[in-house]
Amino acid sequence: MKKIVLSLLVASVGLMAADGAALYKKCAACHGAKGEKAALGKSAVIGGMDVAALEADLKGYKAGTTNKKGMGALMKGQVAAYSDADITAVSAYIHGLK
Ligand code: HEC
Repeated sequence: MKKIVLSLLVASVGLMAADGAALYKKCAACHGAKGEKAALGKSAVIGGMDVAALEADLKGYKAGTTNKKGMGALMKGQVAAYSDADITAVSAYIHGLK
């Protein structure tokens, strides 16, 4: 019994862990599957960017304080539902793209 409870616990923690690849799926439409596109002709190419810079940008968009090309509100909508852990996971994923 103990074993079953434990594996259920492990399974649900696994489901809750932020999955960078899954979190990036909706971003690919604008930024490209490899983060190689200038989204809507406005953004920088984000694939391979520094993790800390990505996190800072995404937290800024979420807070509504970042707006580089007048499209910050659009990016705010993209990350509004992302937790800090989600932002860290998706940033690590984007950093690994090339
Ligand atoms: C509908 C198109 C679209 C989608 C979808 C989108 N973005 Fe963006 N992204 C933009 C635009 C446009 C900008 C420029 C915003 C501005 O004016 O600051 C941008 C900017 C950024 C930047 C800053 C890059 C720079 O120019 O320095 C990062 C990082 C970023 N997006 C990551 C993401 C992530 C992660 C997702 C998915 C959660 C995402 N974007 C989804 C269009 C999009």
